[in-house]
Parts: sequence; C-alpha cells; structure tokens
Amino acid sequence: MAGFDHTPDRRGTSSQKWDKYEQQDVIPMWVADTDFPAPPAVIQALQGRVNHGVFGYTLAPRSLSEAIVERMARLYDWQIQPEWIVYLPGLVCGLNLACRSFGDSGSPVCSPLPVYPKFTTAPRQSDRQLLSVPMQLQEGRWLLDLAALEQQLAQHAPALLLLCNPHNPGGTVYRREELQALAALCQRYNTLICSDEVHCDLLLEPGLCHTPIASLSEDANQRTLTLMAPSKAFNVAGLACSFAIVANPEWRQRLKRVMRGIVPDVNLLGYTAAEAAYRHGDDWLSAQNDYLRGNRDLLMERINAIPGLRLHPIEATYLAWIDCSALALDNPQQFFERHGVGMSPGKDFGNGNFVRLNFGCSRALLEQAINRMEQAVASLA
Ligand SMILES: Cc1ncc(COP(=O)(O)O)c(C=O)c1O
Repeated sequence: MAGFDHTPDRRGTSSQKWDKYEQQDVIPMWVADTDFPAPPAVIQALQGRVNHGVFGYTLAPRSLSEAIVERMARLYDWQIQPEWIVYLPGLVCGLNLACRSFGDSGSPVCSPLPVYPKFTTAPRQSDRQLLSVPMQLQEGRWLLDLAALEQQLAQHAPALLLLCNPHNPGGTVYRREELQALAALCQRYNTLICSDEVHCDLLLEPGLCHTPIASLSEDANQRTLTLMAPSKAFNVAGLACSFAIVANPEWRQRLKRVMRGIVPDVNLLGYTAAEAAYRHGDDWLSAQNDYLRGNRDLLMERINAIPGLRLHPIEATYLAWIDCSALALDNPQQFFERHGVGMSPGKDFGNGNFVRLNFGCSRALLEQAINRMEQAVASLA
C-alpha cells in the first residue's frame, strides 16, 4: 500500500485544506478532500486531453453519460436513462437548486442534523424554512429519527427532504430496509427527496453496499433527485464535475429552468477525469478504500483510548465525527487547533461538542495528529 503512504506535498498549491495553516504547525484535517493523487488512469486521461491543446466550449460527452448509466446498473441494479443526467459544477450547487426548484418563498425543507453544513445553508439561501430532523445513535450508528421526521412531515408538509447517504459526518451507510422506511414516509406525505450520495464509493465495511434511495421503487425514483460525483472518491473535487440524476421529467425541467443563465457548464477537464475514474478507476478505488479502512481502524482504536473522546464506528467516508463532550471544552476545535490539529468545528454541523476529523491522508500523518490529540488531552489533567 506504499502508494498511499507517500502523498505529495500540497503546500503552495493553493490547496484549501493546506493553505489555511501555511504559516502554522497545524496538521490540516478539515475540508473533505484526500491528500492522495488521483488514479493513474485519471491523470493519464487528463494529460491526453491537455496535449490536444484546444479547450473550447465543450458538450457533456455521451460516453460519460453511458459510463454513468452502466455504473448505476452494474453497482446498484438501477436502470437509468442518459437524459435523466443533469451535469453540475458541484453538489452544493445541486442542493441549492433542489431547494429552489419546488415550493415558494418560506416553504419548509427538512434536513438531518447534524449534517454537512451546506444542507442547512441551502434552504436558508434559497429563502426556504429549514426544519431539522435529529440524527440519533442506534446501536452505534447515526440514523435519522424517523418518528421526529414523520412529525415534521405531518405538521409542516415540506415539499422536500434533504438526505445524506452515506451520512456526513456520521459515516452511516443506510441499509435497504432503513431507506425503504424513509421512502414509504415520503410517499405517504408526498415529500420529494434530494439525496446527496457523493460518498457512495467510499465504503469501508466489507459486505456493506450502497443503495441509492431512488433505486428502491418506481415511486422513489420519481420523487428523488440524486446527487453524485467522482470528486470525493477519486479526489478530483478541484475539477468540479458532478451530476444530478432526475427521473421525474417535471422536476428535471424545473431544475434546468432554475439553472438557466446562472449555472455554468462543467469544464472539459472535469468531464475527462470523471469518465476515466468511472471507466478505469475501480481497482485503484478498492486499494484506496483498503488503505482508508486501515486509517479508520487505527483512529477508532487510538481515539477511543483517549479519556474523554468517543468515536462510533464509521461505515463510509474518510470523516470521523468525534464526541468531545466529556472534556467539557468551550470550543473543542480551537483547543485541538492550538495543539496542532486542524479539524472542522462540530458546531458548523450542528453540535459544538464534536469535531470532524478527515483521515484521507497518509497513515504517518494520521498517527502524528493522533499523538498530538493525545498530548492535548493529557495536558488538561
Ligand atoms: C455530503 C456532501 N455534499 C457535498 C459536498 C461538496 O460538494 P461540492 O464540492 O461538489 O459542492 C461535500 C463535501 O464535503 C459533502 O460531504
């Protein structure tokens, strides 16, 4: 696994993650990209495209849509049509578009909490009323509180539910039955679903598989806008190529209307990288996920051995949602940052007693960060 042990130095490359602490001895473990180079097949495809030398206006390649159609069928037994795919320069853009494509000013949108912060800003930025549905720990897994969700649906009749599957920051891979229960609730209350599945390729638990909620039934397919991208799994977020899969023609039309004149086309290198990743990146992905599983296991063992810190099992993503509440710190993120580990503040996700640690890095760097966290907590004694 030497390939993942040796990561390029990202300082001075305008990396969001690394430049934040350019002048400080702080290990950056916040924004969700990894430190790994993209798969060789992606780099080679990009080099080939760059060598062509002409970078004019570009259509979404049919061959990319075909690769996505084939991937959905092969991985999830989900038969989609190429025309259901709407390319977007980012998933956050997709979350905001989903909020704006149905309902009126002030109409409610449900979102889990805690969750990736853009889930809570998208409804607000779209002039919608945010209704939060708590995530609760059930046998060590972060799951949506379905009773609370049903209450929100019955009381407020929101047009839209935002779902994060797999969940960021909880690392949950929703099981088929869990998604079926959720889809049944949405059917009963006639709620649309925007399902952000960007972490679907980052599965860490052998035997667990991802289920797109839209793939469950024709009803779920028609009420769901699915967001996906190669950005997280293949570390090509800077190339900004994502897509929505929208089977429902009315929703697709509304989405395209909201986008018109505002959302730019995806850039051609983004398309090139996405197609190469999906067609030729799966062996690399599997090796990366093995490496990330090793990081996850190390982190689980070491963090849970630090008095006052608690980490529940992570089934997917390279993100760890660490409970610091027993330490009773005013601001856990700042505390650990002062001790040389730069994580994301839990309060941005909905719980200030937590920090989110990105373990998409070399094992050596992760060990160094854990050592610093251990020393930081020891300094409190
Ligand atoms: C669940 C989720 N959605 C969306 C994004 C960001 O997507 P993009 O950079 O394509 O806007 C992230 C990044 O961390 C994420 O975790």
